[in-house]
Parts: sequence; C-alpha cells; structure tokens
Amino acid sequence: MADPVVTSHHGIAPAAEPGQTVTFTLDGREVQAEAGEFLIAAAERAGTFIPRFCYHPRMKPVGMCRMCLVEVSGPRGPSLQPACFVPVAEGMEVVTTSDRVKKAQDGVLEFLLVNHPLDCPVCDKGGECPLQDQALSYGPGESRFVEEKRHWAKPTPISALVLLDRERCIQCGRCVRFAAEVAGEAEIDFLGRGDRVEVAIFERQPFDSVFSGNTVQICPVGALTATPYRFVARPWDVEQVESTCTTCALGCRVAVQSSADRLTRLLGVDSEPLNQSWLCDKGRFASLAVNAEQRLREPLVRRGDELVPVGWAEALDEAARRLRELRDRRGPEAIGVLGGARLANEDAYVWARLAKAVLGTDSVDCQLADGLPPELVLGLPRATVAEACDAPVVLVLAGDLRQELPVLHLRLRQAVDEGRTRLVQVAPYATPLGRLGTNLVHRPGEAPAVVAALLGEGPVPEGVDPDALAQAREQLAGAGEAGEGVVVVLGRPSLAEGPEATAAAALALARRWPEARFLPALRRGNVHGALDMGLAPGLLPGRVTLEAGRGWFEAAWGGLPARPGRDAAGMLRALAEGEMAGLVLLGADPLGDLPDRQLAEAALGRAELLIALDGVLTPSAARAQVVLPVAVHHERAGTVTNLEGRVSRVAPKVTPPGQSWPDWMVAVALAERLGSPLPYQNLSEIWEEVERLAPAYRGLGGAVLARPELADGVVVPLRAVPLELPTRRPARLDPMATPGILQVEQQGAPLVAGRAVPLGGGELPSLGGRAAPAALGAREAGALGEGTLSEPASGDGEPPATHRAGADQGTAQPGVPLPAIKAPALPAPSPGRFRLAASRALYDEGVAVDLVPELAALVRPAAARLHPEDLAVLGATRVRVRSGNGSVVLGTEADPGVARGTVLVAANVPADGQGGRVADLVDLRSPVTEVTLEAVAGEDSSREDRS
Ligand code: SF4
Ligand code: SF4
Ligand code: FES
Repeated sequence: MADPVVTSHHGIAPAAEPGQTVTFTLDGREVQAEAGEFLIAAAERAGTFIPRFCYHPRMKPVGMCRMCLVEVSGPRGPSLQPACFVPVAEGMEVVTTSDRVKKAQDGVLEFLLVNHPLDCPVCDKGGECPLQDQALSYGPGESRFVEEKRHWAKPTPISALVLLDRERCIQCGRCVRFAAEVAGEAEIDFLGRGDRVEVAIFERQPFDSVFSGNTVQICPVGALTATPYRFVARPWDVEQVESTCTTCALGCRVAVQSSADRLTRLLGVDSEPLNQSWLCDKGRFASLAVNAEQRLREPLVRRGDELVPVGWAEALDEAARRLRELRDRRGPEAIGVLGGARLANEDAYVWARLAKAVLGTDSVDCQLADGLPPELVLGLPRATVAEACDAPVVLVLAGDLRQELPVLHLRLRQAVDEGRTRLVQVAPYATPLGRLGTNLVHRPGEAPAVVAALLGEGPVPEGVDPDALAQAREQLAGAGEAGEGVVVVLGRPSLAEGPEATAAAALALARRWPEARFLPALRRGNVHGALDMGLAPGLLPGRVTLEAGRGWFEAAWGGLPARPGRDAAGMLRALAEGEMAGLVLLGADPLGDLPDRQLAEAALGRAELLIALDGVLTPSAARAQVVLPVAVHHERAGTVTNLEGRVSRVAPKVTPPGQSWPDWMVAVALAERLGSPLPYQNLSEIWEEVERLAPAYRGLGGAVLARPELADGVVVPLRAVPLELPTRRPARLDPMATPGILQVEQQGAPLVAGRAVPLGGGELPSLGGRAAPAALGAREAGALGEGTLSEPASGDGEPPATHRAGADQGTAQPGVPLPAIKAPALPAPSPGRFRLAASRALYDEGVAVDLVPELAALVRPAAARLHPEDLAVLGATRVRVRSGNGSVVLGTEADPGVARGTVLVAANVPADGQGGRVADLVDLRSPVTEVTLEAVAGEDSSREDRS
C-alpha cells in the first residue's frame, strides 16, 4: 500500500510542503503540527489520545482496525476518517469526542469482542492489554452478542519462543507487517477468509526470525506470547528500569523487568538513534540467563584437584598472594589479563589501572583474537548508526550482521529497502544484507585485493564475479571523490583468517577516501567501552596510546609498564611456550571462545596461575586456582559504550546471586592486598577520574547521562563542550497506555521532522497504571553523583590541551595513530585444498544461550557449506574437514553464496555432535586456515537437533 501523502482532498487548503508547520483545529482548539504528520500522532502530541490497534509509529499505516475513527470536516461536512491514515492539513477541523465518533468506537469494540474469548484472568496480556484498556475506556459496556464464540486449539507454538492463541487475535496485522516491513522476513501472515481468518506461519517454513519477540511486544492482545514469559508474572507484580542491552555491541535501549527479584522480561524502548523500539531475540531472551541455577554464588579456591567454596577474604588473600609471588618471581610481564568486554566501563577502567599500574603488565586484551587491531578501531573516524543509514553508500567489510549485530542489520536493511542508501558487502560469503545490494564474495584472506579492484587500483581477483564487481562500482558511484558519502561497516568476517586482511582493506579505503567514516562492527557486549578504557595492549583510557598518555597517567596512577604488552593470541602463545605464567580471566573463556582451541588448551594447560572472575563456572574458570563470582548485566550499575562510541547507562534490576561482587570492587580489594590501594569507594569516583584523565570522555561529567533528554546516551568524544543537548524529549515508552499517562508525556514535546510520530513507539505496558513513564525512565540505577556538564579541566596529572578531545575544536579528533598493516601473503590456491571461512551464529554454544532452554533449542549444528560446483565434485553428504590443527566431521550443504575453493562453517556452534568445533581447525598463526575435505560414509551425526 502506498504511503498516504499530504493532499488537499479535504478541500481545506493546498497541501503544505513536508517540514512546514500547519495549524488545525482539534476538539475546538488550535494545534500545530508538521505537514505530513498523521492526525493520530499530531493529536497525541497535543495531548489527545485517539484509541488505536493497528497503528504503530514505526510502521506504515494500514487503516485496518478503524478504532481511530474521528470526525474530519470537509467540503461536504464532517465525515468519519481513520486518524492513523489521514495526514494533517492546514485549517483541518477534527473532532475526537462527538456522538458519531463514540458510536463508531462502540461498534468497533463490540465487533472485536464478538469472538474474543475474554480469558483475561489467564491471559499473559491481562493488565497491560490495549484491548482490555480501550474496551473499558471507549467501548459500549455491554454486548448484543450471546452466540457461542469461535474456538481454536490453543496455544499453538509457532516457534521455540512464540506461542499463538488465535482466538485472541484481532487481526490488526501488526505482527504480519513487522515481519514483512521491518524484519524483511515475512514468515507470519494471515490465512483463510471471512470469520476463519487466522494468523499463521507457513507449512514447511518455521517462524525462525531472529526478531520474533518484537511481534509479541507489539501484539495489542495476548494472541502472541513469549514462551519464557508464559504465566511468569503480572504487570502489577513487576518493577522495571530502563537500561542498555549488552548482549552485543549495539547497545539497544531496553526496559528490564523483574518480579520478586528475578528477571522476568526485556522490552525494547524506542530509541531514535539506536533500536527504534526493536530488539533481537538473543538480546531479549538471553538476559534470562542471570536467573540460572548454575550461577556462581561464592568464591572458590583450588585445594588439590577441587575448587572449594571459601569466604571473600580468603579468596582475595589467595589471589593476591599468588599474583604477588608470581610477579616477584617472574616479573610483571609474566602476567596477563584477558577479557573485559563483559564489564561496564567503570569496571574496565579500574581493571586497566590494576593491570597496568599495580601489577605492571601491559599484556591486557578485551578481545579474544576475534576482533580487529585496537589502534585501527580507535584511529579511524567513527560513524553513528544514523549516519550509516543515511549515507549514500554503505560498504560492509564484515560478516553476517544479522547473526552478529542483529538490530544493526535491521536498521541498515530498512535504510536500503527504503532507498536511503546503497550497499555493497565484501566478505568471503554472501549475507542477507549483501543480497539487498551487492555481495562481493571472495576467497578468505583476499579482501585487500577485492578492495583494490573496487577502487580501480588492481585487477579483479580470481574467484570474484566481474559482473558483481561492476555492479558494486555502480553502487559506489555516490561515494564522492574523497569518500564523503561513504560509511564503512568494519568487522571480522571470518575467525579462520587473521585480522590483517580486513585491516589492510580498511586502511586502503581510509587512504583513498579520507572523508569516509567507519562504523566498527566488533560484536562483544561492551568491547568498545573496554577498548576505550584501555583494556588493550599499548593503550590507555580515552583513546590514547601508552606513550602519548604516559605523562599524565603515570602521574595519576603512579606507574605504567615500560613497553607495550601482548595481545590475546600473543599472551596465549607466550603461556604455551612458558614465557608467561599467569592469567586473569575477566569473564573470558578461551577454552570455549577462542577461535583456536589447540592454542587455548596449550596455554591454559601450562599456566601456573589462573584467576577467573565470572558469573558461571566456564570450562576455563574450572581450571583456575581462584574463582571470584561477579555481578553481570542487569545486576550492576555503570556505563557502557557501544560501537558508535555512544556512552549510556546500565541499571541494576535484580540482586546478584549469593556473594557476587561488581568487578571493580574485586580490583580495588586486590590492589589493596597488593600494597597499592586504589582510591575508589563508588562509581562516581571512578567516573570522575575517567572524565578527568581519559581524553575521549572529557566533558561527560558524572550526572550528564542521568539527564532524561540524554537517555539514549552520548557519543564520545564530544563534538563540543559544553555538550549540546538534543532538542528532543526522551524516548516515550507507552503509546498505548491510558490517556492520562500520555498527556503527561506529551506536554511541550518539540516537533521533529521526518516521521509521522518522530519519537517513542516502544510498546511498554502501563504496569496497570502503577508506574508512570517518569518512573520507568528514572535513572536510579547508578551511584553516579550529581553534577553538571563539566568544563575542560587543567592542572597536573591531566591530559594536555592537545588531547582534550572536542574541547576546543569543532569536531572530534581520534587520538590513536592508525597502524601500518600490510595485506598478508597468502598460500597459492592448490587443488584439493580449501580455505576455511568461519562465520558466527547468533545462537551459539555460549553461556547466555545455553542457560536459557528456549534459546538453546535454537542452536543449529554446523554444516560445511560449499559452492554447488565444489560440492558436486566432492559428491558427499558428510565430510571430514581436516586442517594442520585437527579435524571435525560435518554434514554438507550447497551454497551458491560461497566462493569456489572455500568452505564456510559457523564457528561457535557444535560441529560434530561429539564435542568437536571449528576452533579445532583454526590456526591463529596462519593468515588463512587451509583444510582438506574427505567424504565420510554413514549417518550424519552433526545433523542432530539439540532440542
Ligand atoms: Fe495483531 Fe496480534 Fe493478531 Fe498479529 S496476532 S494480527 S499482532 S492481534
Ligand atoms: Fe541486544 Fe544487540 Fe540484540 Fe540489540 S541487537 S537487542 S544490543 S543483542
Ligand atoms: Fe487507525 Fe487501526 S485504523 S489505528
């Protein structure tokens, strides 16, 4: 259906141009609105709630339910019009409360309830149901229908996560429209005619969208419910707080709900620059892992072969004693700190200080050999998600974003779908996003050659489709000479090749297009915050190098390592070779998570000292001498930084189990025992130091992020100090709530161009009227102190003016020089040898998925995906994939989106049903992993479904 446009069909006035302000009359008073804005949204901002079911501010209007009928005056007098479908026009006269309107509302509700089961007492939507609320507020109060209602079998599972109660459905089409229009995965639709219309999925195609939870959130009745939430809580039992999802590095805004101190649900909050109310299913449901029985509850210390529970004092004494002894015996460089992407910024900062200033080691890495060189990530000019979505050209030099950063995929998909941007993807395999533009598929390790060809600086590499290359060049036509129209999304497309190829390709793009901006697509939760806080070798907090920041950090911290340390792979190699001896694991599980399992085994097998801070006993933590239980997301306060550099707050909602501590407190307690106490008593004090010492974070004073108008977070480095406040109001949480709440929210809301309803649209229930949006938005979470926007400080122990990002220049300057990284030399392709491409699956073997049974059921075993011609030559349904490191047996699948001579396997899922994984094949020393394939007879054990 085409978008309605502003016309003069009401005969009132000529259409105004979009962006102009128009004045219309609403229930007798004059109201201003943006031309093109839909009546329902303009009225809502003016404080008049018009009831609705099918309308959703983030989707195109369809005018299906007729609940929003209002009287609009035209040349032939007033007529009933759907407010969600009619744009405002100059001079329009609108009445929302006339007898005619009331009669229409009575009629719509009476008919909606003809077949509705009215099982509110047992319906999960009860108490937060727009049908319930609007039937009471706008309905006739009684029904003339006494006949038997329609019945369906219920509930029907339409996926592992979603249940369908068809008789509750009011056929608003929100779920269907979301799936087709927003997710681009039309796996749910209407079936049947007349009174037999039902929402259904397709017969042989499951509803396996990774965004299915959004249909549950936006269903205005209890027709779609989430399996993990079924009969779990009622709106009047739950409390909620706004926070940030840290399951991946996008950092969607969420409302976190709990009941009786157990996490019950995450709902998407409408954040204009980020998730625009949507969440992916992993972010939505994996958070329930915090409730798991398997959570650590007390510190553990190894006594012989056993880890035995002890008190905190004993565990900390033991950890400090062992660290001190090792440092004295082998020197500080023998100790490394691995992980930190799970931590909040404040935790990461204190751990960076503990490692670099107290322990004296620079061998610190928050990436697990699965990312990119930190200097590259921090040195490239950064783009925001909104800039990427509005760029004429997006070049994706990353893997499958739908699996790695799902809501970023969603945003880019919509931008391409709406014709706002053109997209080219360069990767060793075709991706769903690339299919909307051009997928430039190449052999693993050859991204630099493809980029050279794309820029007209080199020949078309063998194996790359010349037609696709020509098409990609056409797509890039809007780039501009200096690349001013380009945003490059930069990730790590394959774990089976080193980061050098992607890095070299990115550097070539930056050289040729100095005006291009880059959106890093590293995946782990707060990996960008951890990098910003200095949890990387050669770096200090605030995006400065060890050398550049040495002066003021040494003065403030009292010491720093003399030279840069090792990265994750370097640390593990040094451990395996006996050059290092101790490792602190900050929520890292190299045995389960490193792309090269042989290296992880060798390193942990030889380590003299392992100390693990984690929420559960991972395979790596189980090898430790000391295990310290820590609070995880939704249990602790602080801030995180997303891939744009957007700093936002995370809020504690539930109490950590047992005796778990926040990570920063563990660092402070260890420092004390190591004889170098750290001066922090609370998060405020940590943040004050971050803001004072870390150049990229200057100007972001303690209470800034608590300001409601900055609920979406603030991108650092600030482009101006004092910070320019946005002109928009904070995200609205409940567009379907009772009019009273909406009126409070709508007062004084500014006009924002470009959308029918520019703000809000998250579908939070009203909590039975108990918690108003003001309470939902309350930032009670952090212990961050009160304060105002900071002015740049000066004095000893502070960065010099040249490092004060944004303090005196109009735009932010990256503080880290770009590294020089050359394209790696690759082995020549040879017959019978394949290059391995290792992608990442959203539902993986990780702890968060494993601890939530509904998600664990969605983990699919890995398959060897081959180009159909390669598969035809092999002629096998099952192959043994063998590299220099090991072998796994996999079922095969034909995939034309894989380059010839390449075998594509998801790296983070079970490979052969017997504990094998792709990590058994990868050798991190090689720029690419070469494998041979040999046909295997017999049943394919890898095809078993874990469910
Ligand atoms: Fe609307 Fe819910 Fe029915 Fe979908 S299932 S059409 S969202 S009422
Ligand atoms: Fe969370 Fe990332 Fe999913 Fe957003 S896209 S809900 S941040 S996991
Ligand atoms: Fe307007 Fe459904 S027709 S909300």
